[in-house]
Amino acid sequence: MPPEKKNIPAHIAIIMDGNGRWAQLRGLPRTKGHKAGTETVRAIVTRCRELGVRHLTLYAFSTENWSRPKEEVGTLFDLLNSFLKNEQKKLLEQDIRLKVVGDIDGLPLVVRTALKHVIAKTAHCSSMTLNLALNYGGRGEIVRACRALVAAGVSPEEVTEERLTQELYTVGQPDPDLVIRTSGELRISNFLLFQSAYSEYYFPDVYWPDFTPEELDKALADYASRQRRFGKTGDQMEAWEA
Ligand code: FPP
Repeated sequence: MPPEKKNIPAHIAIIMDGNGRWAQLRGLPRTKGHKAGTETVRAIVTRCRELGVRHLTLYAFSTENWSRPKEEVGTLFDLLNSFLKNEQKKLLEQDIRLKVVGDIDGLPLVVRTALKHVIAKTAHCSSMTLNLALNYGGRGEIVRACRALVAAGVSPEEVTEERLTQELYTVGQPDPDLVIRTSGELRISNFLLFQSAYSEYYFPDVYWPDFTPEELDKALADYASRQRRFGKTGDQMEAWEA
């Protein structure tokens, strides 16, 4: 059962882990795990949209993932391309805007072209933003933001958290309320390091292809049961919320 609307996170970010192990368990090549994981992406995007989640960020390809075997990297981009081609209509119907979090210019030309096309087509959509983290690394993002501040001639006194936030890929979007990592691994892996300072974390013991909408509902029920404090005491939070 999904939680009440008031407990739905505005921004959910997901580290989609376990595709390879899911496939290996079944005696299949790792690429089949990524294919199954793509089906999960479709289902979770739809479920988040139904529930009223306003921002969903999916960690699809990190800057570290380039070191995987060439064939696997190729399969990931092929799957992404088919996803973009097949889902464009559905994204428009569901009023979902696509964005990329990461260095889009470092992606293969076909992928970049397909992404830019869908980003432009869905630019007016406003019910949900789907951020695909591609060629993304959190440390690199912070360094890039610092460089942008220096290049803009921002003085040391003007460097604030708010100003730095303006240079992150997620500019204009709220920080993630909930970060989910599937597969039972307990790591952040360079994901949204700056933005997740006060996020709640949830680590389900299922591989990404098995992360069904029902598993998402469980994550949301767990999230709804937590008291977020942002460094304050419980009493201060009550006074703040009143
Ligand atoms: C981690 O599992 C998963 C990835 C590195 C890629 C995620 C990609 C997809 C779900 C498919 C394509 C994406 C979209 C948006 C259509 P892993 O391979 O590291 O699993 P393992 O830890 O079990 O080896």
